[in-house]
Amino acid sequence: MENVLQRLLPAAEIVPERLHRAMRYAVLGGGKRVRPLLAFAAGELAQADAARLEFVAAAVELIHAYSLIHDDLPCMDDDVLRRGKPTCHVEFDEATALLAGDALQPLAFQLLAENALADSAQAQLEMLRILALASGSRGMAGGQAIDLASVGKTLGLPELEFMHIHKTGALIRAATMLGARCGGGLGAEEFERLERYAKTVGLAFQVVDDVLDCEASTATLGKTAGKDAAQAKPTYVSILGLARARALAEELRGEAQAALSPFDARAGRLRELADFIVLRKF
Ligand code: IPE
Ligand code: IPE
Ligand code: MG
Ligand code: MG
Ligand code: MG
Repeated sequence: MENVLQRLLPAAEIVPERLHRAMRYAVLGGGKRVRPLLAFAAGELAQADAARLEFVAAAVELIHAYSLIHDDLPCMDDDVLRRGKPTCHVEFDEATALLAGDALQPLAFQLLAENALADSAQAQLEMLRILALASGSRGMAGGQAIDLASVGKTLGLPELEFMHIHKTGALIRAATMLGARCGGGLGAEEFERLERYAKTVGLAFQVVDDVLDCEASTATLGKTAGKDAAQAKPTYVSILGLARARALAEELRGEAQAALSPFDARAGRLRELADFIVLRKF
């Protein structure tokens, strides 16, 4: 994934150099790459071609990296540390960070538009639509808007779940389903099971992010710990408490594994990723 992203990003020597350096800085050399891993794992289940999966995995990771740059800006979470390095706006400047995010987003769609990823043009258009929906106001950006509007408020569990499913779940679900769409190996019922898995691990991912923000150290996370409480964000920890938030993540892990139960060993990577998403320490 590191090599693929390296190759697909504009070279740092191309004009405008500073913007390209900022884009590369934010994307390369860090991050767990969970969304690419999910795309590859779902692709393995659907017997997809690895060359197609590289583009889909990269596209989703570019959207994710852009969302992190903007999430860290002073007008949002105002964070100075990301992936163990100064955030993009600290290393460069706010305007450059804003533009790096602005430029990473269309690059993702460019990758999906200019490479052959599906067996028909219509199927490929549907892939573009899935990524657009997952990223926009009915997906990630919408979830971020709710996150910002919720500062200092106590949300009910349904509202909290809605926020998390959108700000984080949507892109994780898209990564998984786009990976599966690169292959033709799944029937309608299998597709539905995979979708249930993807939704479940998407929510679990943010529940665990909330737990780790409270529980882990800045050094292990590579981002400032304890930010949610300091900024009065409603999270699963602030609403349920640490123990019940952890228990919920564990419950979601069980649901995700159950969704995969009829699949054979080709779902092995997806099973491992559900475990990783819930049991991770960073
Ligand atoms: C952090 O995502 C932001 C959320 C959506 C919770 P990750 O935990 O996947 O961040 P990286 O990519 O590993 O840095
Ligand atoms: C970020 O959620 C979600 C997106 C970037 C879409 P957080 O604000 O909790 O992510 P971290 O904790 O800063 O990584
Ligand atoms: Mg945030
Ligand atoms: Mg944040
Ligand atoms: Mg967080």
